[in-house]
Amino acid sequence: MAERIYLDHAATTPLDSPVLEAMLPYLTRYWGNPSSLYTEAQEARKGLDAARRSVAELLGCKPQEVIFTSGGSESNSLVIRGAAYASRRALPAGRRSRHIVTSAIEHHAVLHTVQQLEKEGFRVTYLPVDRHGFIDLPALEAAVTAETILVSIMYANNEVGSVEPIARAAGIIKEKNRHTVFHTDAVQAVGTLDINVDRLGVDMLTIAGHKIYGPKGVGALYVRSRTPFQPQILGGSQERNRRAGTENVAGAVGLAKAMELACSEFDSRNAHYRSLRDRLMSELPARIPHTHITGPLDPGRRLSNSFSCCFQFVQGEAVLMALDLQGIAASSGSACTSGSLEPSHVLVAMGLSEELARGSLRLTVGKDNTMEEIDRLLEVLPPIVAKLRDLSPLWRQADEAGSGPSSPPGGN
Ligand SMILES: Cc1ncc(COP(=O)(O)O)c(C=O)c1O
Repeated sequence: MAERIYLDHAATTPLDSPVLEAMLPYLTRYWGNPSSLYTEAQEARKGLDAARRSVAELLGCKPQEVIFTSGGSESNSLVIRGAAYASRRALPAGRRSRHIVTSAIEHHAVLHTVQQLEKEGFRVTYLPVDRHGFIDLPALEAAVTAETILVSIMYANNEVGSVEPIARAAGIIKEKNRHTVFHTDAVQAVGTLDINVDRLGVDMLTIAGHKIYGPKGVGALYVRSRTPFQPQILGGSQERNRRAGTENVAGAVGLAKAMELACSEFDSRNAHYRSLRDRLMSELPARIPHTHITGPLDPGRRLSNSFSCCFQFVQGEAVLMALDLQGIAASSGSACTSGSLEPSHVLVAMGLSEELARGSLRLTVGKDNTMEEIDRLLEVLPPIVAKLRDLSPLWRQADEAGSGPSSPPGGN
């Protein structure tokens, strides 16, 4: 059987061997509870402390500003609820600021959390994005007021790869209200973009291990010193009383190792990703008529490893199943929404029609993909789309009328 081709690195990545090697001693020998006093525990404590120092160094922050969590979703949920409740509590009675700003294209870990806060009485502004998936900076400037306690804007979008202007957003937010806490979800950015928290100007930043060849079920959260923060998991005094629970030492060690490798191989990985992605960007629309690239067309404003598009009159899920039969793993958008019949909230926010948004495909390359694998995809995908379109009465009608499918508002 031919080797399978994995093109869904935005969903998750395989565990890198050096990462596994770094983790193994903490699963087999140093399994003690890092809060205990005996030797096994102290070795675990040393490993955890070293992992925290390493993550802090890569973020350009102090070790005590790093909280280990169970992943991106927990980090997002924790910062938003933690900052929101703490700010509300810190205000004098009668001046209960309750305003949060986020964008319409955030991951559901952010959106569902702010929606919950909305039900609890917080006021939320959802910033619109343009047809390439970039947040509207003038809208951000208009949204932030003296009442705004928190802004959460993702660094890079997981579905369409748009890289948001985080440093510029930080400048705008702090200019309007220096007390507003600024959080960015950097889950898709680590390893491909600068993650120095001071250069970005953020107060909080979310990271997940499994997107960068690290283990699943571990993440980190950067919380700038003196940022209002209320813990959400209560119990022991771990993580300086900010997140109770016995620490996942092996996970933290693995996350730190994966980040170290991603940062030390930053240039070579990015160059490799770009060469594969650029071939997809130029060749797929050339080989498949009416392919609408979604997200930024400017390669410099797009994640180096991300390609996404929509095919009119085709269901994304059908394309995925056909690709799978050909040995290729891809996605129709975020892994969390695949399987749901709802069109992607990101594509809809970008102005695509629901019908077009249902024909979405996302290909995210990784360090072990080769150009031959991209060529294989370019060979098998056009006949798959053509065959599926042949089954679509709407496509046949458009084709017979000689008009071809119409251009979508967000199309190109
Ligand atoms: C942008 C973004 N944020 C958050 C998450 C959630 O991360 P996790 O799966 O580690 O909970 C993901 C996962 O797909 C993501 O892409």
